[in-house]
Amino acid sequence: MTTATEILVDLVSDTATRPTPAMRQAMCHAPVGDEQRGEDPTVNALTRQVAALLGKEAAILLPSGTMCNQISLAVHCRMGDEIICAANSHILSSEGAGAAVFAHSTVRGIGSPSGLFDQDELAEAIRPSNTKAPRSRLVCVEQTCNRGGGTVWPLATLHAIAETAQANGLRLHMDGARLLNACVASGVPASRYAEPCDSVWLDLSKGLGCPVGAVLAGSRHFIEEANRWKHRMGGAMRQAGILAAAGLYALEHHVDRLAHDHANARKFAAAIAGLPGIRLLFDDTPTNLVFFDISASGLNTRELSQTLMKKGVRIGVESPHVMRAVFHLDIDEQGTDLAIDTLRLALPAEAGGIRQ
Ligand SMILES: Cc1ncc(COP(=O)(O)O)c(C=O)c1O
Repeated sequence: MTTATEILVDLVSDTATRPTPAMRQAMCHAPVGDEQRGEDPTVNALTRQVAALLGKEAAILLPSGTMCNQISLAVHCRMGDEIICAANSHILSSEGAGAAVFAHSTVRGIGSPSGLFDQDELAEAIRPSNTKAPRSRLVCVEQTCNRGGGTVWPLATLHAIAETAQANGLRLHMDGARLLNACVASGVPASRYAEPCDSVWLDLSKGLGCPVGAVLAGSRHFIEEANRWKHRMGGAMRQAGILAAAGLYALEHHVDRLAHDHANARKFAAAIAGLPGIRLLFDDTPTNLVFFDISASGLNTRELSQTLMKKGVRIGVESPHVMRAVFHLDIDEQGTDLAIDTLRLALPAEAGGIRQ
């Protein structure tokens, strides 16, 4: 009988975090009610707190970030509209063409390895208004840009694209799966990043370490409409205060510590950059994501991933040549060192490692 190797260091995603004992305690003791009727006091406390954090009139708790994105697209767009975002964004590549399914809209991607784009690139992507073209309706940005290596949108760039969007009658949506990572890395408050956006959300289940949930914020009118979609999609819950309690706990205890994840990611990137056969995809490591290409090692990512797994280290496979390591609450400095050493030893000797 074979037994699965225990995963000691799980860098596959920051969704791999498990609730801490203190978070579980907070969940245990949460006062709860019927969320669907607006009667759950803990959910109401969380949505009030996130609305204030993001400087918006109202907010709702949803089961996932994907649902935050899809509901936002559905509220902002009408049949035949077009959404503009970075070509490598989650909305375009990882949400099962939900824009077509729920918002009945097409998505136009701006090619940008970093996930950022500027005013001129946006202006070029906005279609001229005529009966043949889809109507450009919504711009989406990811803060931070996941497949851009965790890049942070600078405030000035955000304001510039918001100005172009507004001048052309488009709305601006922010996918804030890692918005608080951006805030911790830059020192800019979340409300300032959210200010030029018509809708914005943050994920509870990534760096914040909660088991489930994301909170979407916007104007009172936007959130009323979003609530209709939440119900329609089956996202309305009952005693969801148990989940909201984890969110409240995380906002108090797990935000400043994101700086440790960024430091571990930087340490990992700096160490592996020196390994022959490995090439970092991005020059900087601004937050908690490290992408690297292993083609020069002569291995493919599936083989390398299997070798690492046998030693208890899991790193995500993005493509046959590219891997992604994500740093989070459950990875300490020791785990980071173990991942570096395991990767070094897994590389073929001629590429700088030791064949096992
Ligand atoms: C940038 C980005 N947006 C949205 C999502 C979706 O979030 P969820 O997993 O909560 O649906 C993810 C998840 O990895 C993400 O990285």
